[in-house]
Amino acid sequence: MSRLDSFIRRVSAQRDCLNMVSKEMQGRTGIVLEFGLGNGRTYDHLRSLFGPEDIYVFDRQVNAHPDCIPDDDHMILGDVLQTLPAFVDRFEGRAKLAHCDIGTGDKEASIALAMKMSVYLNKLVQTGGYIVSDQDIQVDGWVVQPLPEGVKPGRYFIYQKT
Ligand SMILES: C[S@@+](CC[C@H](N)C(=O)[O-])C[C@H]1O[C@@H](n2cnc3c(N)ncnc32)[C@H](O)[C@@H]1O
Repeated sequence: MSRLDSFIRRVSAQRDCLNMVSKEMQGRTGIVLEFGLGNGRTYDHLRSLFGPEDIYVFDRQVNAHPDCIPDDDHMILGDVLQTLPAFVDRFEGRAKLAHCDIGTGDKEASIALAMKMSVYLNKLVQTGGYIVSDQDIQVDGWVVQPLPEGVKPGRYFIYQKT
């Protein structure tokens, strides 16, 4: 598969998973967490689904398209493992969705980071809330959800916290 094909499948999977979960969560209150602002693509999509006021975005830097930068109150700057503890103090149990798109080309390091983050995510996400992730995160009480049609297993992951 060309790198272009791979990129298209990856971003299509992101869009389809986020769309699916947003439908499941209609009417649910809570904040939305975006891990990995990057270019701002998935943040912009989440904004179109949920509105900007309840989305908190984590990244160690701001390098996004100028139209896709959260305001200072909603941008949590720094290494996630440094910023998450204080965030949990503010928002424990209040997230209805966490989207994790923080992986790099180093698969082992990405999974290790995702597993460390999961300790905090488990505290932040409400019972019945969702975690959508670019990494396979195995956590007790997180139930693997079916993927949207056309998304190949292993390309993206959806969990519901029970
Ligand atoms: C794949 S990009 C995110 C792409 C973005 N979701 C988009 O759609 O444009 C991953 C981002 O995660 C950030 N990142 C990686 N490790 C991090 C860490 N430990 N703490 C904070 N940010 C991190 C990087 O700075 C990078 O911007």
